[in-house]
Amino acid sequence: MLNVPSQSFPAPSSQQRVASGGRSKVPLKQGRSLMDWIRLTKSGKDLTGLRGRLIEVTEEELKKHNKKDDCWICIRGFVYNVSPYMEYHPGGEDELMRAAGSDGTDLFDQVHRWVNYESMLKECLVGRMAIKPAVPKDCREEKKVLNGMLPKSQVSDTLAKEGPSSPSYDWFQTDSLVTIVIYTKQKDINLDSVIVDHQDDSFRAETIIKDYSYIIHMGLSREIQEDFSVRVVENVGKIEIVLKKKENTSWKRLGHPLENHNLLIPKKDTGLYYRKCQLISKEGVTHDTKLFCLMLPASTHLQVPVGQHVYLKLTITGTEIVKPYTPVSDFLLSEFKEPVLLNNKYIYFLIKIYPAGLFTPELDHLHIAGTGFTPMVKILNYALTNIPGLRKVKLMFFNKTEDDIIWRSQLEKLAFKDKRFDVEFVLSAPTSEWNGKRGYISPALLSQFLKRSLDNSRVLICICGPTPFTEQGIRLLHDLNFSKDEIHSFTA
Ligand SMILES: Cc1cc2nc3c(=O)[nH]c(=O)nc-3n(C[C@H](O)[C@H](O)[C@H](O)COP(=O)(O)OP(=O)(O)OC[C@H]3O[C@@H](n4cnc5c(N)ncnc54)[C@H](O)[C@@H]3O)c2cc1C
Ligand code: HEM
Repeated sequence: MLNVPSQSFPAPSSQQRVASGGRSKVPLKQGRSLMDWIRLTKSGKDLTGLRGRLIEVTEEELKKHNKKDDCWICIRGFVYNVSPYMEYHPGGEDELMRAAGSDGTDLFDQVHRWVNYESMLKECLVGRMAIKPAVPKDCREEKKVLNGMLPKSQVSDTLAKEGPSSPSYDWFQTDSLVTIVIYTKQKDINLDSVIVDHQDDSFRAETIIKDYSYIIHMGLSREIQEDFSVRVVENVGKIEIVLKKKENTSWKRLGHPLENHNLLIPKKDTGLYYRKCQLISKEGVTHDTKLFCLMLPASTHLQVPVGQHVYLKLTITGTEIVKPYTPVSDFLLSEFKEPVLLNNKYIYFLIKIYPAGLFTPELDHLHIAGTGFTPMVKILNYALTNIPGLRKVKLMFFNKTEDDIIWRSQLEKLAFKDKRFDVEFVLSAPTSEWNGKRGYISPALLSQFLKRSLDNSRVLICICGPTPFTEQGIRLLHDLNFSKDEIHSFTA
């Protein structure tokens, strides 16, 4: 769902820049919105004129289809009949016609690389471009990659002259850890410069070096745990990615190379890479703008550099729609009432909701994913500011690891500042350094924490989390003699 773009913000030809130069969306005729287009593509109408047949298109053939009512465009090797889309194109018919009968890939990427044309135009697919006879391979390309060093042949001539000197990688292991070391040979490398993802056995690390990306992409030979750590030794340009083995066995090799592995390629050629994020919270900021907090998966390391944007993708009635958004930076966030978490796992966006828009109303309707904590923050804020005579508010916060604790420092600060508030973090899978409470919700933990100040004083206990957690919590609270009226659970 999320993607880091290759270009700086706003990109040289992004809509945000061009808008100031006077170019903007053209007014579309009634009934020609993106939603109308999606409906048309689902109607079963033959939009290519080929009755579902896919053909191989030669350059000569492509050139012939260059009129509005017969317009084919090639993007990344696939040819689409865009005539039915003409009137629906938000950039206008003339813009689309600039690529008529030709390869429009570069033009398309310059204007809106993020637009998910594959999904939007799937009913307009005519076929593939015919493959030209292959040019004989330079025998130097056959050279083996040794010790993770990038052979010269894999860096193009221009790149060798203008680009950064070729990075390389190595790896080593202990019983429980595998460390991948990337030598960038650049001094200005920091944690923003590296994006790491792994899923099942596939591992991908992209190191951004000026306008290039150095990719490590491997099918790992053994299983690793979901979380990992990334360290950067800035002055020598070294990046260390420490993976945790699932089993303490010795690995004979790191794994096998996957697409683009050990290559330094222009950033714009790396493709778009999405991660499934959870919507953690959504807070109104003005009448139509909201602060959204998304949580990245534990298997991703990604820090969006200031001012750059990412792409959010949603499937709207079966079609993937992508829009760019710019994460907001810390200093902006401190202005908001809600405590916000400033760690790598969370990304915040200020997004204006257009009631008649396509993407933002869908985004606004997404359910908040259950850390269970958002309702608690609201209650905390309300109780501490609005209830006169309030004696005590306690928060018992169950998480797996320290990294999972949302808004920890803010909660600790609040407990320090306001004597009426106490917080207790309980971890089910802490590291050996953790000296706080451990375990799962249990009678022992609850009875220590939940004490009436007087025998007859009344309490309100709010409980929120995944359903089994909430249900067990309610059972235990009843066993501890808290009445039904004293317990409030947040359930879907
Ligand atoms: C680099 C970049 C970064 C961005 N960052 C942010 C950000 O941080 N926060 C943010 O809120 N937005 C940001 N945007 C804008 C964002 O990407 C979306 O364009 C915006 O959220 C609108 O999406 P939508 O699909 O809901 O609305 P759309 O469907 O695009 O509609 C928006 C409005 O325009 C009207 N409209 C649509 N088409 C036409 C037309 N042809 N003629 C006249 N009116 C029309 C609609 O009725 C609606 O009122 C960014 C854009 C770019 C390019
Ligand atoms: C290759 C030639 C193309 C050119 C030159 C072009 C140009 C443009 C321009 C200038 C805009 C800007 C509108 C604005 O300022 O908001 C735009 C928007 C758009 N174009 Fe294209 N376009 C091309 C091809 C396509 C294709 C093939 C698709 C297929 C799906 C497409 C889908 C869109 C969409 C969805 C938007 C709206 C983006 C948004 O609001 O986020 N375009 N296009």
